[in-house]
Amino acid sequence: MAERECWKSRTGMILAMAGNAVGLGNFLRFPVQAAQNGGGSFLIPYFIALILISVPIMWVEWAIGRNGGRHNHGSLPGMFDLLWKNPIAKYLGAIGLFGSTIILIYYAYIVSWTLGFSFFSLFKTYFGLTSFDGMSSFLGSYQGASVGYFSSGWLAYLFMLLTFAFIFWIMKRGVSGGIEKLALFALPALFIFAIILAIRVFTLGTPDPVNHPDWSVAKGFAFLWNPNFEMLGDAKIWLAAAGQIFFSLSVGMGTLQAYASYLKPEDDIALSGLSTASINELAEVVLGAVIAIPVAVAFFGLDVTIQVAEGGSFNLAFVSMPVIFQKLPFGEIFGFLWFFLLFFAGITSVVAMAQPLISFIEERFEISHNKATTYVGIFTLIALHFVFFFFQYGFLDEMDYWAGTFILVVIAFIEVVIFAWIFGMDKGWEEFNTGADIKIPIIFKYITKYVTPIFLFVILISWTIQDAIPILMMKGISPENIPYRWGARLLMLAILFTIMYMVHIAWKKNKRKPVSFDS
Ligand code: TRP
Repeated sequence: MAERECWKSRTGMILAMAGNAVGLGNFLRFPVQAAQNGGGSFLIPYFIALILISVPIMWVEWAIGRNGGRHNHGSLPGMFDLLWKNPIAKYLGAIGLFGSTIILIYYAYIVSWTLGFSFFSLFKTYFGLTSFDGMSSFLGSYQGASVGYFSSGWLAYLFMLLTFAFIFWIMKRGVSGGIEKLALFALPALFIFAIILAIRVFTLGTPDPVNHPDWSVAKGFAFLWNPNFEMLGDAKIWLAAAGQIFFSLSVGMGTLQAYASYLKPEDDIALSGLSTASINELAEVVLGAVIAIPVAVAFFGLDVTIQVAEGGSFNLAFVSMPVIFQKLPFGEIFGFLWFFLLFFAGITSVVAMAQPLISFIEERFEISHNKATTYVGIFTLIALHFVFFFFQYGFLDEMDYWAGTFILVVIAFIEVVIFAWIFGMDKGWEEFNTGADIKIPIIFKYITKYVTPIFLFVILISWTIQDAIPILMMKGISPENIPYRWGARLLMLAILFTIMYMVHIAWKKNKRKPVSFDS
């Protein structure tokens, strides 16, 4: 069997892992969630969820992944099969593989918008559209949802193809030649862009002291960070905090595991995992929080900013920020930095979503990396067209909820139970500590075994009752979109069953020809 690829350097590996985690979620989703859920007090459930569920799950994922790599498994079906000798384990893993594949499809399209808007900033395409309505219609017409500045969606189509080609090129070059090289460049660049933007925001002060003396950056910070402790009694903000930290660290998806499978068997995971999580938190709580919300408060005041935040992350990024850039000297440059920052954040996450499926096909069907990438590429390109043409009917939203939100918790729960209870936490603890460069406090052994699964179970049940069932019943969906939403569901089911069937075939094939994965 061919030698399994490895990361070239530890720095490259950590940056690739951080690139996986740092995404649009850090710069768009976090500030909006914080603003909607009590500002500063949001950080209390957020950090509790970080320590009690996300960090343990992250170590579990790195351990599962490194162990998978020892046996030439880069995706969840094989990884779960190694830990639990039950025929069902591989199919549970298939659910994870399904999740990352669906996210790959729609996230690639969203990332292509950031590329488009980078150019629109640099070339001042939207300059002159200084109102929210003007920018909203610009965005809508770009997406082909309405007629406005753009008469059709062909430019969005072009940027989608460009983004796809870039992803495809990186994936062809493989883990160390593609993903690692990309991260070594994109992650530092992303931090530099974010720091420049943060400094610009800090130095804004009160942009219009005569007419609006209380519209200031300081007010924005105060709004974001002043704790509203009364809200802590509301279960909703605990769920929101847990959901955010989950999404942000990219757990429950199989992508951290896929990356960890390219570690060497004795490589440290304890410290590397923690470093990656710290980089993610720096990008989220420090940089993500200081840009979009404070600048919006400085230019539009608190009330409007809250409205914008309520309108969702995309409004904040693609509508309110461009309006602000037009008010700043050299706004085209700051606009470019902002959207290119989002592009780098997004693209380093998208490649992570493609990796599990590619390695699954490559390893389980024993075909070359090149061929596997081509198959995944063709599939992705076809699927992208559905997302593109049906975008305005909620196709993407439907995928985002099931694959991007709900399944994360399902997979995280399943894997913690398999790891800590079936594989066993004593062996699991040894795995955590194999090659470790730090000593993990023993309490984490018990947190991982008891607290994490219980916490996850509670979240899973609450989400099912609070969101999943109403969404399943299409509550609040306008009737003309319902057929498209069903279309999205059918497409997802088709992909899920295809993946499960492929798992079935792959295992049957390997049984007939007993290859030892250890060789
Ligand atoms: N962490 C990413 C973000 O903050 C989003 C994400 C969730 C993700 N799950 C993932 C990225 C899996 C890559 C792989 O935007």
